[in-house]
Amino acid sequence: MVSRVIPVDPFDLVIFGATGDLARRKIIPGLFHRFAVGQMPAGARIIGAARSEMNHEAFLKLIEDSLKEFVPKSAEQSAQIAAFLKSLRYVCIDATGEAGWRELGEHLRPETVRAFYLSVSPTLFGAIADNLSTHGLTTPQARIVVEKPFGRDLASAKALNADLSRVFDEGQIYRIDHYLGKETVQNLMVLRFANALWEPLWNSTHIDHVQITVAESLGVEGRGEYYDRSGAMRDMVQNHLMQLLCLTAMEPPSRFRPDAVRDEKLKVIEALDPVAPDSIARGQYRAANGEGGYRDHAGDPQTLTESFIAMKVNVSNWRWAGTPFYLRTGKKLRARTSEIAITFRDPPHMIFPKLEGRRGNALIIRLQPDEGITLRTTIKEPGPGGMRVVEAALDLTFADAHGPDVEAQDAYERLVMEVIRGDQTLFMRGDEVEAAWAWVDPIIRGWEETRERPALYDAGSAGPEDALMLLHRDGRRWRDLEP
Ligand code: BG6
Repeated sequence: MVSRVIPVDPFDLVIFGATGDLARRKIIPGLFHRFAVGQMPAGARIIGAARSEMNHEAFLKLIEDSLKEFVPKSAEQSAQIAAFLKSLRYVCIDATGEAGWRELGEHLRPETVRAFYLSVSPTLFGAIADNLSTHGLTTPQARIVVEKPFGRDLASAKALNADLSRVFDEGQIYRIDHYLGKETVQNLMVLRFANALWEPLWNSTHIDHVQITVAESLGVEGRGEYYDRSGAMRDMVQNHLMQLLCLTAMEPPSRFRPDAVRDEKLKVIEALDPVAPDSIARGQYRAANGEGGYRDHAGDPQTLTESFIAMKVNVSNWRWAGTPFYLRTGKKLRARTSEIAITFRDPPHMIFPKLEGRRGNALIIRLQPDEGITLRTTIKEPGPGGMRVVEAALDLTFADAHGPDVEAQDAYERLVMEVIRGDQTLFMRGDEVEAAWAWVDPIIRGWEETRERPALYDAGSAGPEDALMLLHRDGRRWRDLEP
């Protein structure tokens, strides 16, 4: 099976912060990949805008070097890189001042779709939006794309929404959560809403609990200072895990349209109960084997920020009351694994011998690595030993299902193309982000008041003991983090 490439209309894409890390590692390599597979139309323009004084040639050299560094097969693609570079331009711009805006306007074509991608600090969102407006660069067709973090609490998120909405309608604002661009995250919607199989079981009558795990094996080395201002709650839970929770828990939307989907996600966030402090475990990885611990990496020996969090969350609505969702995410854990595990209830009456260590039926949706789904079922143990049962996995690895010709698409390249198409389904709406902060804020405020130090855990472990206890006391256990 070969992936289908749906062409997009010509566009002018302005990337603010084009010389920065995200643009060089993800956004521009993603665009190059779309170009290489033939999705980028002739006449597409990518206009890099940044503070650095550099001429067009220096910018092209920077991007060429970045593509060579961050695109895996770039050595075999030098002709395509040369062709791709022809669509690039550079404007040196002062986000908060006057310089560069008129020149930027000269690169934009009146009738062409235009998108402004703000890969810059959120403190600049308002100034850039205002400058775009004062210099007459916005059109009804224009789109603005913003990166996370979208605020650090409800008040700052509201302020950012207000900054953007002075100039743009909600229908023009694309707030990125790159988890929504991941293949399996979208597959979750197809799995749920294109198969009649699951829906009758998808509720608290049949589902015992749900575990959502985003575990990382790397620490925060190199970005400790930034990370320390957020912690796992702001960096991962408020956005990525919340989105996974919403897609798992939401009601079927009436149409696959942006607002129909986002209305249902919002209802899930609004149905979340406040979380009591004893339903949360926080951790910091400790120093070991000559490697620094979280506090060393954060550069603050007293920091109380968490590099790990596990929590029990209740979605208080008709479908989910009585089925807890357990979320966990952290750095320096045993494995890099992201998955959603739906564990079903036991049969009401068991007529076969009890299986020691039985874990029960579960649907495991693997986001990374090795994307796919596994259905854990109970079968007869083979052989003449009587009717003894064992557990076995029905396994569907997407790469095997689709064959070797389907190339993986990075989340960013998919999301940028959705912006050009004008489809907001995979982007967060303003009210969604605010609702997520409204739920997270009191939890963080509680920690700020008690000033308790997060529990320590070993690098390469599954997190602190408290996180294990969170499930043990409910008679459940976390799935193993398998490397
Ligand atoms: C980012 C976080 O949003 O997501 C990082 O800021 C985290 O701390 C990253 O490492 C994880 O993304 P992925 O796609 O590697 O799972």
